Amino acid sequence: MKFLELVKKRYSARSYTFDTVEQEKLDYILECARFAPSAVNYQPWKFIVVKSEENRRKLSECYPRQWFANAPLYIIICVDNSVAWERQSDSKSHADIDAAIAIEHICLAAAEQGLGSCWVCNFDLDIFNLNFSLSPSQYPVAIIPVGYVNKLPDGTSKRKELSEIVLTM
Ligand SMILES: Cc1cc2nc3c(=O)[nH]c(=O)nc-3n(C[C@H](O)[C@H](O)[C@H](O)COP(=O)(O)O)c2cc1C
Repeated sequence: MKFLELVKKRYSARSYTFDTVEQEKLDYILECARFAPSAVNYQPWKFIVVKSEENRRKLSECYPRQWFANAPLYIIICVDNSVAWERQSDSKSHADIDAAIAIEHICLAAAEQGLGSCWVCNFDLDIFNLNFSLSPSQYPVAIIPVGYVNKLPDGTSKRKELSEIVLTM
């Protein structure tokens, strides 16, 4: 598959079947995340796989949507800001940038494996912290549901034209 084909194949899946995701596919997706680039190669991330019924329920409380609750598994991407690179000139942490690259590797790898995924950042952080006692250094950036899908994209995922977004100087 050409890269552009894969890029277009990925979309925000919001309708999952209860089918189990094969362990080999999950391992492949996580390997793709592991090889993501990061600033100064600090790799400030942790990937938490959520599969158990109890933890899936706790996760759904942070983002109460039926389609989200139906996903068979989730990957929570956390970063440790004390590990991430900070630019000297303005101390900007690059943790979120590093995480975003790894997250998109996950989503693209899932698409390649015939699985759906969706970035979810709009979860309730307070409920998350109450439900999961992660180490205080671990900041959850996104929760990615992963699973087989039973509905194709609805075609609402439009993009701006290149003429609107590309400038040549
Ligand atoms: C940083 C980020 C945060 C997002 N958070 C959510 C979210 O909380 N819930 C959700 O349903 N979609 C979320 N999305 C998905 C976007 O709505 C989606 O990527 C966008 O509408 C383009 O559609 P597409 O992914 O189908 O191409 C998020 C996407 C990104 C990149």
